[in-house]
Amino acid sequence: MSYTAAVITISDKGYAGEREDTSGPAVCKIAGDYGFEVKYKSIVPDEAEMIKAELIKCADELGITLVLTTGGTGFAQRDVTPEATLAVIERETRGIPEAMRAASMRITQRACLSRSAAGIRGKTLIVNLPGSKKAATENIMAVIEALQHGAEMLNSQGSANCGELAR
Ligand code: MTE
Repeated sequence: MSYTAAVITISDKGYAGEREDTSGPAVCKIAGDYGFEVKYKSIVPDEAEMIKAELIKCADELGITLVLTTGGTGFAQRDVTPEATLAVIERETRGIPEAMRAASMRITQRACLSRSAAGIRGKTLIVNLPGSKKAATENIMAVIEALQHGAEMLNSQGSANCGELAR
């Protein structure tokens, strides 16, 4: 079964047209390759209220299963993506950013500087990725297979089959 996805690039420069968004398209391609139908893409600035509104729209209006954000997870004053995400989710899914950071630490020690968060709002899973194309790609690749099963669980009536295909 195929599930829907949205990819939201969070970047002041990308929003202003001062920097080409390369991470958004890369994340769209990976989501598509792993069976998610990317139904919605957007670029928003590093403004908490705008990020929250975009996440709520994807979950409540569009009913997207997986929302992937890129950018705004670092230490700059305007990096507020994790805070905006935590403000709109109902259940935090800490294992996802933990796994992304653990896998990424094998690539670069700077991986621990990403404050990315993830969680569930209704039947929507929201996952933050760091902003560069390289970092976003490495992070999503660390968990994308697990996210397929996560999507299945979110959409199942009872319990999804967790015993099957435990890779
Ligand atoms: N994770 C991986 N896998 N590869 C990377 O190159 N870069 C790190 C980190 N995570 C990186 C990574 C760096 S340098 C930063 S500052 C943080 O992600 C936050 O990035 P962001 O502010 O673009 O969200």
